[in-house]
Amino acid sequence: AIKSVILSGGAGTRLWPASREAYPKQLLPLTGELSMLQQTALRLSGFSPDEVDAEPLVVSNEDYRFVIAEQLRHIGVTGGRIVLEPAGRNTAPALTLAALAARAAGADPVLLVMPADHVINDLEAFQAAVSEGALQAEAGGMVTFGIVPERAETGYGYIRVGAQLDGAATARRCVGFVEKPDAETAERYLAGGEHLWNSGIFMMKASVWLAAMQKYAPDIAEACTHAFDGCKADADFLRVDKAAFEACRSDSIDYAVMEPLSTDTAAENGVVVVPMAAGWSDVGAWDALWEVSAKDDEGNCSRGDVLIEGSRNTLVHAGSRLVAALGCEDMVVVETADAVMVAHRSRTQEVKKVVARLREQG
Ligand code: GDD
Ligand code: MG
Repeated sequence: AIKSVILSGGAGTRLWPASREAYPKQLLPLTGELSMLQQTALRLSGFSPDEVDAEPLVVSNEDYRFVIAEQLRHIGVTGGRIVLEPAGRNTAPALTLAALAARAAGADPVLLVMPADHVINDLEAFQAAVSEGALQAEAGGMVTFGIVPERAETGYGYIRVGAQLDGAATARRCVGFVEKPDAETAERYLAGGEHLWNSGIFMMKASVWLAAMQKYAPDIAEACTHAFDGCKADADFLRVDKAAFEACRSDSIDYAVMEPLSTDTAAENGVVVVPMAAGWSDVGAWDALWEVSAKDDEGNCSRGDVLIEGSRNTLVHAGSRLVAALGCEDMVVVETADAVMVAHRSRTQEVKKVVARLREQG
């Protein structure tokens, strides 16, 4: 069966003040009763267990271990392993640890790699895309899932779509991958119509990932191998060697492997893209959360103890007190025990500036 891997390490600073380093966005119930991590894990229960292992391998910073274990237990997902990183080194090392863990069990499964902080509204479309991806991954491909771009977003990777693959239903060759382009390049890609957004979900055989790391980022492969060789099992947790992992360089899946592999003409198997129209959102900021949330007739959405009057297209989240909004249009109001943010909905991407200023002030 396909081995599912959930990456749950990032902090999601653009969802401040709800999302904090101590409590990142994937662990918060932002879009419903369950956290995005729980929703990600439950997304797997739609597959037959022969097709996808419903007990994911979660890779996370050790700071979040108890919350993650508790949240998974709460939804009845037990028996999966949680690989603990002593420090964040971004997604390339995280996936390398997952691939090493899968290989250590003796097999060479196809991995289904999912970020813990995405929303997918159309489960059937997601499952169909994964089934198509599995065929390509089995054949040695490095599979990405492409989303039709809606704007010139600079926070995503862009996949240049090439020819249809022989015998494939929807899968195509990726003939160029550019991670987080500048605004001008993103505009050009959007206008050109040849690019899809990278969803951040990937599939590949564990051995294919490890070989790619060996080729394009051998120092990271080596550091992760040392860190994994020194790992200690502790209940459901797998703790990797602290010193070895801390010595590893930070890099992402996209920069470390997808970019160089996508243009490596000597590579036997390249990057593949499966188009996916599954109501995907990475809920990067409050405006995206407003987009994916259920709204009333006036376009408002709320959580917690909230009263909204005469307002339109406004999101109000109350964490610890009653919050009332009157005559608000296109606003975002987020209240927590120790911070309140009020912002225009069109400016919520800039929350990271606020977070940066707070960090400066210590
Ligand atoms: N275990 C672990 N360790 N997980 C991590 C780490 C880490 O050090 N860093 C990030 N993650 C997790 C995050 O929690 C998230 O679920 C996922 O890995 C992706 O990391 P992000 O930091 O959110 O990446 P991004 O949003 O900048 O870019 C990626 O996703 C975009 C789509 O949302 C790229 O793949 C882009 O190409 C893509 O478009
Ligand atoms: Mg992200």
